[in-house]
Amino acid sequence: MEIIRDPAEMTAWSKKQHVVGDTIGFVPTMGFFHEGHLGLMRLAGQRSDRVVVSLFVNPTQFGPGEDLSSYPRDFERDQELADKVGADVLFVPETEAMYPKGAQTTVSVRGLTEHLCGADRPGHFAGVTTVVSKLFNIVCPDEAVFGQKDFQQLVVIRRMCTDLNFPVHIVAHPIVREDDGLAMSSRNAYLDASMRESALSLSKSIALAQKKVAAGERDVDTLAAAVRMLIDSYSGTTIDYISFFNQSTLEPVSHIDETTVLALAVKIGGKVRLIDNGYLMEPLQNQD
Ligand code: PAF
Repeated sequence: MEIIRDPAEMTAWSKKQHVVGDTIGFVPTMGFFHEGHLGLMRLAGQRSDRVVVSLFVNPTQFGPGEDLSSYPRDFERDQELADKVGADVLFVPETEAMYPKGAQTTVSVRGLTEHLCGADRPGHFAGVTTVVSKLFNIVCPDEAVFGQKDFQQLVVIRRMCTDLNFPVHIVAHPIVREDDGLAMSSRNAYLDASMRESALSLSKSIALAQKKVAAGERDVDTLAAAVRMLIDSYSGTTIDYISFFNQSTLEPVSHIDETTVLALAVKIGGKVRLIDNGYLMEPLQNQD
């Protein structure tokens, strides 16, 4: 696996692959890899001839007071893992190379970013769409794989690609979970044993809502009350949002059907903000 740090060198590498007719699958990441990331890389490898993984902790998507400086990092381990799953290139740009002095352009998606995490984290999605646009222009992938755990990010990136004619096919990878149901996240590294227990409230409350829907419950308020009660029964949990919304518009719904997603954001121990989501009924079609 090659390590490339210079954006121009990255673009030159990609152009060479395209000249010989190879397709490029891309996995953008902020590092500290877990099975979730490795799943995205494996899927990219199954679908494309070459795989590029980027590792860049993007400062512009962190708000003031968020965990930019403490975000978990382990470059050596990440390098080993990406190599093991068969990535061809690990692209690791410096912040100065991604955001040179004098830059004045950002990319933002309206509407979709006003819901869910966008409401709690102003500027977050503009940071994500700006850096993903830049990465797409540098890496020139044919496809890019994003995890469904960041459901809103996935929908926002798809919208951006459609609106700005990015020739990149966006592929969704299902949420990868620990054996007990906790959705994998780099931020799980912040959890001590008792916080780890409380973190299970997210996946357990989604499972509870799915069970109630399977038993015939369709009232959003009733489901939300059950979810809230379960999360509140764990120590140190603070709910940021419980949202039942349409998979495409991200607008809140009052009626549950195959297009309804339940998403949660919960702070554990007052500081570790975790998210999770799930369809409440079997979705009609895979979004890919
Ligand atoms: O999902 C992430 O890790 C980040 O938001 C992404 C897509 C790599 C952009 O920095």
